[in-house]
Amino acid sequence: MKYADGVLGKDIPTELGRLRAIEELCDPISKEIIGGLGLGSSWLCADVGAGAGSVSRWLAETATVVATDLDTRFLTSGERLTVLTHDVTADPVPGGPFDLVHARFLLEVLPERADTVPRLIEWLRPGGHLVVVGIDMSVSALTPHPALRAVSDALLGVFQEQMRVEPTFTRGLPPLLAAYGMTDIRMTVHPLLVGDGGAGEKAMRATFEQAFDTLIATGRLTAEQAEASRAWFGRPGHLDILALIPVVSARRPR
Ligand SMILES: C[S@@+](CC[C@H](N)C(=O)[O-])C[C@H]1O[C@@H](n2cnc3c(N)ncnc32)[C@H](O)[C@@H]1O
Repeated sequence: MKYADGVLGKDIPTELGRLRAIEELCDPISKEIIGGLGLGSSWLCADVGAGAGSVSRWLAETATVVATDLDTRFLTSGERLTVLTHDVTADPVPGGPFDLVHARFLLEVLPERADTVPRLIEWLRPGGHLVVVGIDMSVSALTPHPALRAVSDALLGVFQEQMRVEPTFTRGLPPLLAAYGMTDIRMTVHPLLVGDGGAGEKAMRATFEQAFDTLIATGRLTAEQAEASRAWFGRPGHLDILALIPVVSARRPR
């Protein structure tokens, strides 16, 4: 199945709101790491699979940016910001060579993820930075809360069927980057908390809500289980981690 036809496709009316929730959760993470790399006005940056574009727009306040996505309907070109309809798994390099390539919540959903990594590396100038922000829902399989486990298992099942999602791909990226000769390989990890009404919960609940119909229609979840997962939120003591957000950065050798 194509990404566009699945539960995260942009024809779904709630997808823009879901992408905005991801941005609220992850923009501080992307900004912190990219800011620490010394982002400057001379930089040429690629934001790959840019989604609703908050990182592209933020980068363009300082640098020159190419924002790419299979579906660019939520992206707008501007001063120093070029938007390109582009398939990262198949299309030619979208300019460059780049000082920064940023890919967030992208490699996990690409069946061709392992072949995409060397493509992104080739886009970099010598000394350029690759920043990958991932989403690893594998921890949700071990949540001690049955109501959350049911929906998380069902969601991972549908993601695997539709996109052959590999939740631990970013966490497993460092040795692959080393094999491609990348240097300065670093990893940090942020927990995605739910139950506190915060940004992680908003992003997860937006994803749950968007997927419920498909999860129920495909027999992965009952309507009662969907309701039980909704009812889990907002109760005293109901706090949990439903995902990890690994951030891996590395440099192309000079
Ligand atoms: C979960 S969204 C993440 C958006 C954005 N990076 C963020 O974190 O806010 C994944 C994005 O990747 C895009 N995408 C999926 N497959 C792609 C491909 N083969 N090439 C380029 N973009 C792709 C989708 O259209 C979607 O906008």
